[in-house]
Amino acid sequence: MLTRRSLLRGVLATPVAFIANRLAAVPANPPFTDDYGVASGDPQPDRVVLWTRVPEAVQPTFGEVVAVSYQVATTADFSPGSIAAEGELQTSGSADYTVKVVTDGLAPATPYYYRFWTDTGYQSVVGQTKTAPMPDVHPQVMSFAFVSCQNFTQGFYTVYTHLAREQVDFCVHLGDNIYEAGHVGLEHGYVREDDIGDGQATDLGAYRQKYQLYLSDPHLREVRRRFPWIVLWDDHELANNYAGPQVAQQSPQRQRDAYTAFLEYMPVQPIEPLSPADPAHVRLYRQFAFGDLLEVFALDERQYRDALVCNRDFLTAGCPELKDPTRTMLGEAQRGWLQSSLQASKAHWKCLLSEVMMMRLAVHNQPGSLAADLPLSILRQPGAIDQDVYVNLDGWDGYPNERSHLLQFIADQGLRNVVVCTGDVHNCYAGILRPDFEDSASAAVGVEFVGASVSSFGIAEMTGQDLTELGRRLVPHVNPHIAYLDLKHHVYTKVTVSPTQMEVQYIAVRTVGQSVSSAFLLQRFVVPHGASRVMLQSQPGG
Ligand SMILES: [Fe+2]
Repeated sequence: MLTRRSLLRGVLATPVAFIANRLAAVPANPPFTDDYGVASGDPQPDRVVLWTRVPEAVQPTFGEVVAVSYQVATTADFSPGSIAAEGELQTSGSADYTVKVVTDGLAPATPYYYRFWTDTGYQSVVGQTKTAPMPDVHPQVMSFAFVSCQNFTQGFYTVYTHLAREQVDFCVHLGDNIYEAGHVGLEHGYVREDDIGDGQATDLGAYRQKYQLYLSDPHLREVRRRFPWIVLWDDHELANNYAGPQVAQQSPQRQRDAYTAFLEYMPVQPIEPLSPADPAHVRLYRQFAFGDLLEVFALDERQYRDALVCNRDFLTAGCPELKDPTRTMLGEAQRGWLQSSLQASKAHWKCLLSEVMMMRLAVHNQPGSLAADLPLSILRQPGAIDQDVYVNLDGWDGYPNERSHLLQFIADQGLRNVVVCTGDVHNCYAGILRPDFEDSASAAVGVEFVGASVSSFGIAEMTGQDLTELGRRLVPHVNPHIAYLDLKHHVYTKVTVSPTQMEVQYIAVRTVGQSVSSAFLLQRFVVPHGASRVMLQSQPGG
């Protein structure tokens, strides 16, 4: 029996009020195996976003509307007494037959099962999700896993085979859910092909095909089915290393198309489609509290950022424009939101979900320095470089004044237990955050864990070498804030917080070059309560 009627916000089409006897009967046929699965996301104490797509085989012809029913239950058998929410909404070709709905009226900190069906014959797999605890309760433990960068062509999703077996309260995707550029051919480490849009997605049809291609992988579908997700975008959901205002000026339709497809296929709010009349602005930055133990702040580091400077984005010496005090990655509104939200947060652990790396990562390249050993052949314009070389100016190293400002704010406010979880660079780095990275005596104000990619090429694939040992000699030399790095493995990162400590584990797979791989604990860390320190724990396996 329903304890509360669910409020339907149907999205991608007009919502239909809940009328129990109008729901189509659940078909008895076995579920489609050739479908796009289900997903849930943006968990709050009373609600979660649910997602599916009506597969081609049961779509109406000519893009017509189809009614989609759904149920949320406390038990996997969906027995009448277990139903917590149910309803019906519509979708059509205009939304590419995707369906998103916010179910509210759910109980906090509660696992749920959910499913979708249509009277045209679609019956989804049963998804699993979980609501967040109420903000005023005191959980003794919360756990989540974060991932990033799942290039379909560059590796199999063996990381997801193992993530699917985890017991975590939610998962985070830090971006590069798709790659706008494809690849044809299976040489040089490529394992699957993607020829969508003649090698480059630039319009709505191609971006939609990208999500469909990626969802053809059963392991990706399984982790989306298995956990609630907090999904961010990075650059490749649109174009490599893009800056939003620049794209909005040069290719506004492409930006709209990329954002539209992302919103259609990801279990995120907002669930409404973009308005055709307005610019493609979407507020993706948002926060989620998990009792008073953990609060996460999901950032949007693409839409509002100033364009790259110094001519190159990767392994480049700096230039005067870097020092421009007005340069911003977050934009004024998001920076204000982040600072006031951090200030107001009562959570024990405050976790920033950051697409790009915040710690300074530079190598010193004066004659006679250790950096002379660097494989500078991977520089795009190798030449005489006699100053610090920034590995990645697409990250926070390209926005140093705003970074200092933000980290100094954390120091000035006396905020403790600030942790940044990051993707983007395809390799693992862990260390501390300082307002002034040039001053190794300045106090740490937080810690950062950068997780390697799920499948996208890292340094090992780009150079054909495992440069981990070389990196461990070179990188701390000019980056004493970096306590750990790994330049070889692909991982998911598991974070477990309690009132006394945060535990972080890099769980690595042995290969993404084959569809099956074992996994092992690459490195475990502990961050003690109240101390911005990264403590490496003894590491089994390897
Ligand atoms: Fe990436």
